[in-house]
Amino acid sequence: MDLQNIPSRPIWQDEKDGKIRIIDQRRLPHRLIISELNTVDDVIYAISEMMVRGAPLIGVTGAYGVYLAFAGKEAIKDSREAGRQAERIKSARPTAVNLAWAVDRTLEKAGAAESDRRSSAACGEAAAIAELEAENSRRIGRYGCSLIESIAEKKSGKPVNILTHCNAGRLACIEEGTATAPVYAAHRKGVPVHVWVDETRPLNQGGRLTAWELGAAGVPHTVITDNAGGHLMQKGLVDIVIVGTDRTTYTGDVANKIGTYLKALAARDNNIPFYVALPSSTFDWQISDGVAQIPIEERDPDEVRYMPGFEKTGENLLMPENSPAANYAFDVTPARLVTGFITERGICRAEESAIRELFSKPET
Ligand code: MRU
Repeated sequence: MDLQNIPSRPIWQDEKDGKIRIIDQRRLPHRLIISELNTVDDVIYAISEMMVRGAPLIGVTGAYGVYLAFAGKEAIKDSREAGRQAERIKSARPTAVNLAWAVDRTLEKAGAAESDRRSSAACGEAAAIAELEAENSRRIGRYGCSLIESIAEKKSGKPVNILTHCNAGRLACIEEGTATAPVYAAHRKGVPVHVWVDETRPLNQGGRLTAWELGAAGVPHTVITDNAGGHLMQKGLVDIVIVGTDRTTYTGDVANKIGTYLKALAARDNNIPFYVALPSSTFDWQISDGVAQIPIEERDPDEVRYMPGFEKTGENLLMPENSPAANYAFDVTPARLVTGFITERGICRAEESAIRELFSKPET
């Protein structure tokens, strides 16, 4: 696919006509489809069908959903109805906490405005959240780069091998990503890096999206099957694991794409640092026990049963027609397996006291 003319962000408000547009990620990297979001229902569909995906991007999309509820001919006037639409948006996907965070924040901003200013207040807030997430990614990149540089110092010119799972890149965020931001920052500084990209069944966000992004940025990478990571770690071919997250408790338990927990176990067994990169919008300050309390999305089993083709899903049945399948989209990695968090505030241990200390200080 021609990499020219690809929008620099996965969601934006078009300067020409004011419409909210997204990159439909379902057919990448083979087809670039741009879609319009005109209604709350469009937003719910885009999130639940994963036209947009990744925790920060789901949040920004949900925020624009609140704006759309207040905009246009059918604009909501009644605050109770606005709350009802916000709840509908929040329930489009259950695991990423960024969605509720961004929707609530936007609703609050709109609610504080005069009734004829609600739509512009909501629109301004959604845009502000997008800018905030872009800045968070840049800061995460700067902090995480130092980890990669310190590994590079010990490798006398050989590339630092980073393993990542799913897509926590610019398509999942607004710019730079979270797990990928330190990689891009290191690459730009001339630090030799190589990324092992887990393909991330069943929807192949790693093989389709992360590989595409890294390739476009000229970052050396290799796509591997989801089960290859442990073997590579045993052979000394992984220096550090960096993943993103959809929801992290204030005690440090991390929900991320299914299979992340197994990578963390393998990393611990092989004494390899396992870092989670996240903006503060992905911390859930209400819950302490990730395994017991984080809602894990279960998606349509057909996503497991069929391998998506270039054009549409449901093309190639992979298993006996009558075999049932289950599709757990996320798992929880307990804090004890996480070496640390790379956040926009800096790096901290995966412990409540360290997390609270980092976020209680004024931002620098
Ligand atoms: O199901 P997805 O593709 O939305 O899952 C995305 C992930 O698991 C990402 O790692 C996570 O959202 C972090 S994105 C910065």
